[in-house]
Order: sequence, then C-alpha cells, then structure tokens
Amino acid sequence: MRGPRRHRQLGLEPTICRRARQHNWLVFRTVAQTGGVPFDVFETAYGALYDAGVQSRLAPLGGFLMWGADVERFLRVMADGVACARGEVVVDCPTGGGVTFAGGLQRTKGCLLGVDRSSLMLARARARARALPGAQRRHLALVRADASRLPLADAAADRVLCFNSLHCIPRHRAVLKEFRRVLKPGGELVGTTLTADAPMPWRVNVLGARLSGFFTPPDSRRLRADARAAGFESWETERTGALMFFRGT
Ligand SMILES: C[S@@+](CC[C@H](N)C(=O)[O-])C[C@H]1O[C@@H](n2cnc3c(N)ncnc32)[C@H](O)[C@@H]1O
Repeated sequence: MRGPRRHRQLGLEPTICRRARQHNWLVFRTVAQTGGVPFDVFETAYGALYDAGVQSRLAPLGGFLMWGADVERFLRVMADGVACARGEVVVDCPTGGGVTFAGGLQRTKGCLLGVDRSSLMLARARARARALPGAQRRHLALVRADASRLPLADAAADRVLCFNSLHCIPRHRAVLKEFRRVLKPGGELVGTTLTADAPMPWRVNVLGARLSGFFTPPDSRRLRADARAAGFESWETERTGALMFFRGT
C-alpha cells in the first residue's frame, strides 16, 4: 500500500510525509512502530476549554490569578522558540491547539513540527494553521504521537519546545530522555511547567489541581535531577509564581 492511505494507516499525517520527502533531514518512525496513542483527557471538552482559555485575551489575567504566571512572557518565549533558520528543525511537544504558532510563523524559516497525542487538540492546531498565510504554513507539520516516543530520528532537532505540559505528563524523566534523544548535540530544550514546590499562595492551587488525577506537576529539584539523568548538562530555571521557565542544553 502506498501514498496517503498507507500514511494514515501508520498514524502519520499526510502533510508530514510530504515534508519528510521534501527535507531528507527528517526521518520518521511511525506511530504504529512506536506503540500507538492512548486516551488523553485533552480529547474531551476540557481540552477545548483549556485551549480557548490560553489563547483568549483574558489569559494573562487568568494565568496570573490562578498561578501567578507571567503569560505575556511565555508568549514571548514561544515566539522566540519557533524562530529558526532554513534547514533547522524545531519540535513543539506537546503543541496543544497551536498556541506557539497562533501569532504567526514569520521567523520560522526551517520546519516546526507540532506533536500532540490528542486528536482534538491537533484538530484545533490544524484549524489555527489554516488561518496562517500559505507561505508560513508550509514550514509547519503536525503529527499525533506520544511525547515519550517521538516519531523522529536521533539528533534530528535543533530545538525542542515544551510549554505548559510537563505537569500533564507523569513520566518526566522518560519524556526528557526522549527530548534529549531527538535533539542534536548542542540543541536546546525550552519550556515552562507548573511545579509542585511552587511558592505560596500559588502552591495551594497546584495542590488543588492535583486532585483532578491527571495533573502531575514535577518538583523542581526532582525535575533538575531528571534532566541531568536524561543527559542535559545545563539546566537553567526561573519562576514566575507557580510557573517555572526552563532551558536545558
Ligand atoms: C496544557 S496543554 C499545553 C499545550 C500547549 N503547549 C500550550 O501551551 O497551550 C497539554 C497538552 O499535552 C498533551 N499531552 C499530554 N500528555 C501527552 C503525551 N504523553 N504525549 C503528547 N502529548 C501529550 C495534551 O494533549 C495537551 O494538548
């Protein structure tokens, strides 16, 4: 079986396969090979609600009231994160509804690969991508996969972005290890996460959110140890409220 039918059967977006053919620097392992994609709470109305909230004009206020977070700042870090030169690969995992590229991909000259395991969130990301000019859209590929089993070859990426997500993924060390695997030597991981050891009063909200069951915010010291164990030699962090910015190389 050839073409889009085969790609769909393997769990790959047809667009990503076209990109893979255009740029031989991307070598994909298929979702079928990597074990499939399990259920995600972001497949439910919660995912749509979260995505509408984070992209709304009220997000800076909501982010501050809930978490003491500087939303404007992470939007700026996202905009810098998707910037890349021709031939470079940036992986945005999980991309959710595409908040990283909602503001446009004017500075993305290579390839931005958005990965998420929720088909609902990817549908939102795809809708957002359709609103971009074609010249920007051709630098974007979206694929459904698990963060701990990325459909990418070793050392394929110049940068991995992971915004607002480690607190939704229980296996932090495995995910960081996978990010390190796909990063080129010297490549960087940039992102944000809510942390369990956030300062008061934000810690109360983080602990409350943990009752939901799917919310697994890492302890910042444990996360540093996980990052080191995953192969990141340098791990810089900075907090605004419960939200921690991190950069690993
Ligand atoms: C809070 S959202 C953040 C999305 C986006 N980065 C943002 O800042 O809006 C968390 C995302 O993680 C995704 N997710 C959770 N576990 C995942 C996993 N193991 N692999 C890939 N995506 C996952 C969810 O589907 C959801 O889209």
